[in-house]
Amino acid sequence: MRWLSVRLIVSLIVGITLVSLAFTYKEVQRQKLGLRKDLERSDAVLGESLAGYIEPYLEKQSPRQLQKIVDRFGNREGLEGMAIYDKDGALLAATSALPDRIGKQPPLVTQVISTNQGSGQFSRLGTASVHLYAFPLRQHDEAVGGLVIVHDASYINTQSTRMWRETFVRVLVQVLLIALITLLIVRWSLVGPIAKAAQWMKTLRTGKGTMPSGAPDLGLLRPLAREMQTFAASLMAARSAAEVEAQLRDTAESIWTAERLAVHVRSKLGDSGLIIVSNREPYLHTRKGESLEVVVPPSGLVTALEPILCACDGKWVAHGSGDADRETVDANDHLRVPPDDPKYTLRRVWLTKEEEEGYYFGFSNEGLWPLCHIAHTRPIFRTSDWEAYREVNQKFADAVLQEMGDFEQPLLLVQDYHFALLPRLVKKQRPDARVAIFWHIPWPNAEAFGICPWQRELIEGMLGADLIGFHIQSHCNNFLQTVDRTLESRIDWEHFAVDREDHRTVVKPFPISVDFQGIASSPRSGESPYTERVNLLRELGVNASFLGVGVDRVDYTKGILERFLGIERFLEKYPIYQNKFTFVQIGAPSRTHIKRYHDLRGEVEAEADRINWRFQSGSWKPIVYLKRQFSHEEVEKYYRAADVCLVTSLHDGMNLVAKEFLAARDDEQGVLILSRFTGAARELNDALIVNPYDIEQMAEAIRIALELPAVERQARMRRMRRVVQEHNVYRWAGNLIAELSNVRLAPESIEAITGLKGFSAGTGQ
Ligand code: G6P
Repeated sequence: MRWLSVRLIVSLIVGITLVSLAFTYKEVQRQKLGLRKDLERSDAVLGESLAGYIEPYLEKQSPRQLQKIVDRFGNREGLEGMAIYDKDGALLAATSALPDRIGKQPPLVTQVISTNQGSGQFSRLGTASVHLYAFPLRQHDEAVGGLVIVHDASYINTQSTRMWRETFVRVLVQVLLIALITLLIVRWSLVGPIAKAAQWMKTLRTGKGTMPSGAPDLGLLRPLAREMQTFAASLMAARSAAEVEAQLRDTAESIWTAERLAVHVRSKLGDSGLIIVSNREPYLHTRKGESLEVVVPPSGLVTALEPILCACDGKWVAHGSGDADRETVDANDHLRVPPDDPKYTLRRVWLTKEEEEGYYFGFSNEGLWPLCHIAHTRPIFRTSDWEAYREVNQKFADAVLQEMGDFEQPLLLVQDYHFALLPRLVKKQRPDARVAIFWHIPWPNAEAFGICPWQRELIEGMLGADLIGFHIQSHCNNFLQTVDRTLESRIDWEHFAVDREDHRTVVKPFPISVDFQGIASSPRSGESPYTERVNLLRELGVNASFLGVGVDRVDYTKGILERFLGIERFLEKYPIYQNKFTFVQIGAPSRTHIKRYHDLRGEVEAEADRINWRFQSGSWKPIVYLKRQFSHEEVEKYYRAADVCLVTSLHDGMNLVAKEFLAARDDEQGVLILSRFTGAARELNDALIVNPYDIEQMAEAIRIALELPAVERQARMRRMRRVVQEHNVYRWAGNLIAELSNVRLAPESIEAITGLKGFSAGTGQ
């Protein structure tokens, strides 16, 4: 480090000195030239005026007069002397000693007489530097003699020398100051921060002492600090993953982690590319004044799918919905993500307002969403929405095909009900691709689905996939029955598959889940659930001793109004809990552009107000309705402090809130009340299972939850946590990939790849 500073300073000194000297040299030359020009000019003026004075005496041929003039003017300050010559160059008069110095007949005089033009030159007389100026003496414009003025020019050199001296001193002082300042800057801005960084990294590496939370403040080296932060995060993640793996090996268990999933994906995928399509993008950009902000939409999907893409540098195709999304992509609409540590490519697809209106709000969310969730909201089917849905599916298919490019046998994971037509559109063009669609919402029975005017097209579209995934077996069964009633095909009930037109589609359940480890190990306050509860309620301005929590998008499928009725009935039936039990409903606004959702927000608010008005007293109220998007960290605080979590969906594919709540309760306390109409209810038998339409039952469940003996509560929570830990989101993704990569391609796609006609690989699974 010391050598580095010395070398830096020496280079600086040499550099500054050379540059300063070069500039000074130019400046001195410029000044010298200026002084010489000035002298030439003044000698020319003096010569001319003296000539006018001398010429009459020359005509009179009066040497005495000429000598008088020479004596009078030749000793003026700065003049070394002057001399007058006749037209043959013979000396007529001169100041004393001058002829000895310049010669009796200087060539300059002969030259000006012959050219009849004044002329000057710098030369040396002995050791003195002088300027000789000769001027013709005229009669009737003819040169009849010459005048020589000799001017002392040594002051020009004296001035140049002074300038050099001053410059030298200035450069010396400058160099010393700059060297000193540089030394201080190096010490403060580089040596100090680098030492700090080294110490920080040492602590990180050895794991001794207090673990550093954020990278140190490195001043000028801020970009390095940012990289160190990312590096530290990766190192910590790798360490904790290794720790988890070690623990798992220790207990001979096989719990899936992000790292295990990555290894699994790489081994399954080989050289095939992997593409995921979803409507929501994992990162969206928005503009905040001058700067851009990256937003990660709160979605379980991103947690589940990102490790897969990171593992194999895959591609994620999604709707670019952020207002600054276009500013951040390249010419191919690509962007490398995650922004801090890019590992895969996000391809954004642009939709017009009309397309978004028809495809997303219209057909997907006013048509398919209520159609698949039996929740008594009538689906709306508009032909224009259907057209938009078809067009947007085609648009995404084009983007996917483009991204598949030269990949042989790529894997495509299509997400959700927004893209029912996509599998077929892609498979038609790329029979060698392995295509899966995962349907994140329920599939209703065949009669219910049958009301959709385009059910045939939707099912045909989905059957283009090699694999269709639902959360639970009963959704798979419903789907197969719907296919059976709608299309000419063979249902293989033994293997849960559909054979149609030489193509086989396997239909299987893959219950989605959460990142159990991630939630369980996220930072906590260190307070007991009791203190956390008191603090949270105090922040909300409420005084209560029991806390219930509900976390939902404000959606009519979530049974929020029914939940409120259950709470009202509970307080009515068990008045002892009045003034004691408060329920916090976190309600993230969703799809508010749709009238039904917009109205529902008002209804939820009005219902909370009504119940509060009925029961509230002093600083207590039964329901606190928080109507905004909460971050994972904020929500987890509520999960950890709550006595009971209510999930009362009227119908739900899985419901991840139930699983998130369990993952957050590492204190093994808290009770889950869970609707029997959620996919999660199939796995979580130790929840208090309710029918959300049965208000009495819900009221009873709340009482039981609050009065459950601690031992029983703990036993139930422990068992449910075990289920979620084992069946976590990485297992979900791993199983989906494993199943898809095992798909045997149909003969025609083998032909497409190998070019061998009549080659049969069989279609059976
Ligand atoms: C449902 C879907 C998800 C979707 C979520 C949010 O749970 O199954 O795939 O991410 O709703 O909906 P949004 O319309 O806001 O994307």
